[in-house]
Amino acid sequence: MLGGPEMDWQQASCYLNGEWCALRDAKVSVLDRGFIFGDGVYEVISVDQFQDDRGSYRAPFQIREHFVRLQRSLDAVRIANPLTIEQWFDLTAEVIERNPWQRQLVYVQVTRGIAKRDHPFPSGVSPTVFISTSPWPVISNEQIEQGVAAVTHADERWLHCDIKSTSLLGNVLMKQYAIDQGASETVMVRDGFLTEGSSTNISVVKNGVVSMPPKTVLILPGITVDGIARITQAHGVATEVRPVAAEELRTADEIWLSSSGREVLAIVSLDGAPVGSGKPGPMYRSMHPWFQQAKQADAERWAMLRGRSSACAPEARTR
Ligand code: PDD
Repeated sequence: MLGGPEMDWQQASCYLNGEWCALRDAKVSVLDRGFIFGDGVYEVISVDQFQDDRGSYRAPFQIREHFVRLQRSLDAVRIANPLTIEQWFDLTAEVIERNPWQRQLVYVQVTRGIAKRDHPFPSGVSPTVFISTSPWPVISNEQIEQGVAAVTHADERWLHCDIKSTSLLGNVLMKQYAIDQGASETVMVRDGFLTEGSSTNISVVKNGVVSMPPKTVLILPGITVDGIARITQAHGVATEVRPVAAEELRTADEIWLSSSGREVLAIVSLDGAPVGSGKPGPMYRSMHPWFQQAKQADAERWAMLRGRSSACAPEARTR
């Protein structure tokens, strides 16, 4: 580890093309196609601290699912995966272990690499591989207890939103649209149907049934929303994957957003109107602890798979 939990995030140890260095010293060429074209894909993986009878340890949530999705994104844009899933697991474990924070968001990016600017895929170029991490602030009790506000907007993005591409301008503009209106997310609608949030998936609850849009090219196949579907089903909650009409957002009892960084939060106001009672609803109040239990169970699997030292105990040796 480089320092205590209060360490400046720019001092984080990160991995770039086979080397470890401080984040602020990591440099890529201006000719990297990630910089020039947004020609790359990425993942964001949350890491939390857990307790067992031997003390505390850190573990990533749903890591396999993230690297399976990375493979899917790489295949979609025809970048050869430079690493095996086991190598990705090792690098993720190492970046967690090298950095001090109990809660982290690990960022993984692969671009097509460095080449003279020209649109066609270059030949003989190695992908750029970058892994960093940053402190992941605790999701506030206020957000959990009071929920968050969202606004709606037409989904004006491209038709490959299923690829977790670094070309995120459409998403960035949609996030800023929410911020400019004092909201924390924009819920997007295309051709009369819900797609997703600017950086989250959206689920709706009506009469005790949780519904989420199907995985088409119009949305990112979210790891967190998949986890939510598994959790609701495991607890016997009716769960439907189906197109959700935009009008259903106006009559929903509850609306949830989900992502690796925000877990699951209730949207309590949409375009200024209350959602349901205007407070996180009863289904959310069940969902939140279920989600935390699922994280704990996943962490135990990771610790078992990797052994305690690779499970990134924060008290592990410094280097
Ligand atoms: N965003 N939809 C979009 C457009 C997203 O960008 C994200 C995640 C999600 C949720 O996916 P997951 O549950 O797998 O995190 C849905 C990440 C966190 C980001 O870009 O920072």
